[in-house]
Amino acid sequence: MDDVTKAVELSAGAPATVGTVTGTKTGLERKAGLFRRFPTIAHLRRRAPRHAPRFAFEYMDGGAGEDTCIRRNWAALDSVELVPRYGITTELPPVDIDLFGRRYAAPIGVAPMGGPSIVWPGADEFLAAAAQKARVPYVLGTVGGATIETAATIAPDVLWFQLYRLARNDHAVGFDLVRRADAAGAHVLMLTIDVPVRTTRAREVAAGVTTPFSPDLPMLWGIASSPGWLWSMLRNGIPRFANLRAYVGRNAGIAEVAEFARREVKGAFTWDEIARYRDRWKRPLVLKGIMHPDDAEKAVALGVDGIIVSNHGGRQVEALPAAIDALPAVVARVAGRATVMMDSGIRSGADVARALALGAQATFAGKAFLWGLGALGRRGPSHVIDLLTEETQAALGQIGARSPAEARNIVVRHPGALRF
Ligand SMILES: Cc1cc2nc3c(=O)[nH]c(=O)nc-3n(C[C@H](O)[C@H](O)[C@H](O)COP(=O)(O)O)c2cc1C
Repeated sequence: MDDVTKAVELSAGAPATVGTVTGTKTGLERKAGLFRRFPTIAHLRRRAPRHAPRFAFEYMDGGAGEDTCIRRNWAALDSVELVPRYGITTELPPVDIDLFGRRYAAPIGVAPMGGPSIVWPGADEFLAAAAQKARVPYVLGTVGGATIETAATIAPDVLWFQLYRLARNDHAVGFDLVRRADAAGAHVLMLTIDVPVRTTRAREVAAGVTTPFSPDLPMLWGIASSPGWLWSMLRNGIPRFANLRAYVGRNAGIAEVAEFARREVKGAFTWDEIARYRDRWKRPLVLKGIMHPDDAEKAVALGVDGIIVSNHGGRQVEALPAAIDALPAVVARVAGRATVMMDSGIRSGADVARALALGAQATFAGKAFLWGLGALGRRGPSHVIDLLTEETQAALGQIGARSPAEARNIVVRHPGALRF
């Protein structure tokens, strides 16, 4: 099978808005080439440390402690088995979904990330553009490298905004960021509640990654050895906290803004504070980082529209359970009163299908996108979306689900499911 035929075959049945296929031979050939060199997300992860500087890989790939929680997320997802039913479908199913009244092309979104431009300068813009092109949710982080206003021009149809707690002066900055997100047209506000205290990640520290970004000699050597990264930095500038600059001063330097972020972004929202944000934000509100059904219950009681079951991708504390293991109990407690989504450990369409089968309405990925950026630079995010979308279609088709929602009818073996 030649590459172009393979690309067409891989894309067969994909919604028209999905992927990088442009209809021109060049687009197909490009896509086919990527599929052959990087047929899975694992291939992107293997390539990333050789294409991006080593410190960038340690930043994107490392978790809390000895990465135990990252491995637990993966092992728990691997352990979930789906029992297929046959004779139901003869085609790849559509995977588009409705979230908060908007149609998205796949049940996969770009999770909010601080500092993706350490992984690849310009990453925030590349992620936003890929998500807009594919029509999947893109969540800009408070400490991302692009402003809300810039992200809104790149990804007007798919932009969500994630907020960390900035509580000084009665949440003056937090509330202003919400006002800006509203003015820019962000569809969803996502409050991250799972960073009550600051923690460190050993691999990041050992690699010399600091805030503000100030490379030491080994890091400079890494940059010199990665011409693609260096070129992207020359074009897009060095990593910075773009959204916070407005609160430090028009002429504030990168170091001052970083110091402001270190000082002001602090703690996790209390339930009272969440209620105040609920009052201000009239569009859909999502809480990210719920792991206990009682917290899900509190969220629902406050009128929250959505919940992301997440352990922050294993980056906070290694002792946490896998997010997929907490998912069924949260879904059961919420019982349709809010939209339940999940992240932490998603590396394939089979993982997406597992989460859907256990009741998630959508999934998000963080590291998978960073590995794509590390391996392929600006072309990485689109390839990750293509892989996850097409693998999800294949996994759903294979188990006999004709849509993401039908995955819930599948019989699942889930040995690690938490009981509360
Ligand atoms: C480098 C990096 C930075 C992150 N920064 C943030 C952040 O600023 N805000 C946030 O809510 N979550 C952040 N997260 C967590 C992600 O939103 C998401 O929960 C996690 O990456 C999902 O797990 P996965 O990486 O296994 O897909 C970050 C994750 C990574 C890998």
